[in-house]
Amino acid sequence: MFFDELRNYDREVWEICSRELTRQRENIELIASENIVSKAVLLAASGVLTNKYAEGTIAHRYYGGCNNADAIEDLAVKRAKALFGAEHVNVQPHSGANANMAAFYALLEPGDTYLGMSLSEGGHLSHGSPVNISGKYFNAVSYGLLSGTETIDYDEVRDLARRYRPKIIVAGASAYPRTIDFELFRQIADETGAVLLVDMAHIAGLVAAGVHPSPVPWADVVTTTTHKTLRGPRGGMILCRQEYAKRIDKAVFPGTQGGPLMHIIAAKAVALGEAMTEDFAEYQRRTVRNARYLGQELVRRGFRLVSGGTDNHLMLVDLRNFALTGRDFERNLDEVHITLNKNAIPDDPQKAFVTSGVRIGTPSVTTRGFREEEMGQIAQMLYDAASDFEGQKTSVTERVRALCEKYPLYEE
Ligand SMILES: Cc1ncc(COP(=O)(O)O)c(C=O)c1O
Repeated sequence: MFFDELRNYDREVWEICSRELTRQRENIELIASENIVSKAVLLAASGVLTNKYAEGTIAHRYYGGCNNADAIEDLAVKRAKALFGAEHVNVQPHSGANANMAAFYALLEPGDTYLGMSLSEGGHLSHGSPVNISGKYFNAVSYGLLSGTETIDYDEVRDLARRYRPKIIVAGASAYPRTIDFELFRQIADETGAVLLVDMAHIAGLVAAGVHPSPVPWADVVTTTTHKTLRGPRGGMILCRQEYAKRIDKAVFPGTQGGPLMHIIAAKAVALGEAMTEDFAEYQRRTVRNARYLGQELVRRGFRLVSGGTDNHLMLVDLRNFALTGRDFERNLDEVHITLNKNAIPDDPQKAFVTSGVRIGTPSVTTRGFREEEMGQIAQMLYDAASDFEGQKTSVTERVRALCEKYPLYEE
């Protein structure tokens, strides 16, 4: 790997990084919010732009020597605008949570009311959880899922919007396997005089490839991460209509951040360039096909999927048919080199740290080259591990090893 040279300078750090590379190579990665970036993204993220301070915006910096920083940020912005058809883009947010915090800071005063999806039913921590600044400094009201279909309860969204008159309605989720109807959210926002903020962090890659409807034509502001399905470096981004551009830029800097991470912006530019290719679009189509197939294969083996299936890159699996908690299943699977995360299911009887479910995503394994055939094998391994862990442990570990060897990661 190119970072092997680090061994000559700091052996301790290099050893840990090497162990992590080995872990990634030897594990089947099913965490829905993770991906495996290209070597080009890795190289850009480790470049000399990390040395540069560039507080401010393109051509309006608080430091000298910013011409290359300007050029790289301009390139990232131009690519993001072209890819998503956005009027304005800010590529400086350090992460998805930072992007959301900046968007709230731009659009709300402390104590203002907004509406977001409940964390326990699929929303994100930064959409109003009481332990997060988004729920502490503002009055967050939550909508959830319709029991029965386990899909977003749009009538509840409308009712709450009429009752509370929120300044913002937030659409977007961390654990929602179905297509989100952004047009309907727009109608509700228009009816009730709210700004529509869409957090497309999870589905940004699908949106870029046209595999999920885009929120950009409907939303006033769109926040995202760049490292999930979009397959870029760990980071955030905000897209908005021109009328919000100044407010958003100011809310990022100086509102909530200092100097932008210019090396990460360079890596975002690389990832956005990759996302414009036909290869990337095909990758996203395959990610969704793989998720659908894996879901069907799990259902065939007796697992229940929340909402009955998936339209996107992830699914939520209810483990109660196997008398298992999410925590135990996650722990067992770690032992056999399959990585996923426990996740609450709707009306979960278990505590948030235990849960009755797991979330499974296909972005990483699809990047690795897995197709339907391998999805079937994964479904069987999950079934074997869920129904007879002690008896199947060795066999599943062997099968994981064989798959990982067949689809190597960062081959030199
Ligand atoms: C919908 C959504 N928004 C925001 C975030 C936060 O992103 P980050 O971890 O980069 O702060 C996540 C992360 O999982 C997410 O799922």
